[in-house]
Amino acid sequence: METILIVLCFLSFLLLSPIALSEKCNPQDKKALLRIKKELNNPYVLASWDPHTDCCEWYCIECDEKTHRITALTIQSSVPDTNLSGHIPPSVGDLPYLENLEFHKFPRLTGPIQPTIAKLTNLKYLLITWTNVSGPIPSFLSQLKNLQLLHLSFNNLTGPIPPSLSQLSNLLSLKLDRNKLTGPIPDSFGSFKKPGPDIILSHNQLSGPIPASLGQLDPERIDFSRNKLEGDASMLFGSKKRTQILDVSRNLLSFDFSKVDFPKQSLIWLDLNHNKIYGNIPVALTKVENLQQFNVSYNSLCGKIPQGGELQKRFDEYAYFHNKCLCGPPLPPCK
Ligand SMILES: *[C@@H]1O[C@H](CO)[C@@H](O)[C@H](O)[C@H]1NC(C)=O
Ligand SMILES: *[C@@H]1O[C@H](CO)[C@@H](O)[C@H](O)[C@H]1NC(C)=O
Ligand SMILES: *[C@@H]1O[C@H](CO)[C@@H](O)[C@H](O)[C@H]1NC(C)=O
Ligand SMILES: *[C@@H]1O[C@H](CO)[C@@H](O)[C@H](O)[C@H]1NC(C)=O
Repeated sequence: METILIVLCFLSFLLLSPIALSEKCNPQDKKALLRIKKELNNPYVLASWDPHTDCCEWYCIECDEKTHRITALTIQSSVPDTNLSGHIPPSVGDLPYLENLEFHKFPRLTGPIQPTIAKLTNLKYLLITWTNVSGPIPSFLSQLKNLQLLHLSFNNLTGPIPPSLSQLSNLLSLKLDRNKLTGPIPDSFGSFKKPGPDIILSHNQLSGPIPASLGQLDPERIDFSRNKLEGDASMLFGSKKRTQILDVSRNLLSFDFSKVDFPKQSLIWLDLNHNKIYGNIPVALTKVENLQQFNVSYNSLCGKIPQGGELQKRFDEYAYFHNKCLCGPPLPPCK
């Protein structure tokens, strides 16, 4: 009789609390997540974070299949979500197995890039994009040696780019575009492990010359557009590179375009508009096979546009207009 009662009790316990036995979530991780939810003032996007359920089943979370430790915290919205407000929660630093941390499209997420992120040495992906996070890009990020993607686009970040970021030897993609960053592109960037990450720095207030050391790198994508960079950019060119996208438009760059060569197989996008680039357009450009986007308008170029390749077939006068004395198709004939 007693045994039957115990069995019955146990059965009802099983029925009433199905998760208690099957919960995979690590209790420390769960505690940290619930603190995170509280620190963000219980936003609607985290409504599924119910303390009575297994946190490995919550939205925005991924657990490791074997250890069940939290490996990803990706809080994202497809439309700007103003329900979430406050700072990046300090408790994100208490998820030691995190490999992926992401906040996307929260205009009312403010304050600094949380210093406790320095503890997350397993991070491979750090994406804080389209928020109002402000202050400087902290140099402690250079200690996160496993980082592959560092995307801090579309925020309210100010100050200079920390030179120490070049110590991130696993970095594949660095996006710091659409902030209010000032100062130069660090000279140290030339010492990124070869071939170097894609570097997207557009829509900031970066100034000074592009470091000559960047010529040693060979990333697939470079976008320095809409800054105040001046002087030479010819180190970014070369026939042996594998560049696909090179956009340095809307700067104050000034160099002799006649002297550069191009990666003829890889280059698909070359935008140089609104600079002070001089010389003429090299014939080598007619040999670039897959050029899909090209713009040298608003510069100080001169001479006859080379005929052939994609240069007339694909691009009209608006790719060439407002130069010093460029001429020939698709512009009016040379005199
Ligand atoms: C904001 O919260 C309300 C409920 O409070 C919800 O209906 C709405 O979808 C949320 N907005 C977004 C963008 O998630
Ligand atoms: C930052 O906040 C301002 C006003 O509070 C808003 O207009 C802007 O869209 C926000 N930026 C982002 C990227 O969400
Ligand atoms: C953006 O940062 C500036 C300081 O650099 C600050 O005054 C402003 O309030 C911030 N904007 C938002 C919406 O947080
Ligand atoms: C080139 O850039 C100029 C200036 O921004 C723009 O007016 C023009 O439409 C662009 N042309 C092409 C072909 O993209």
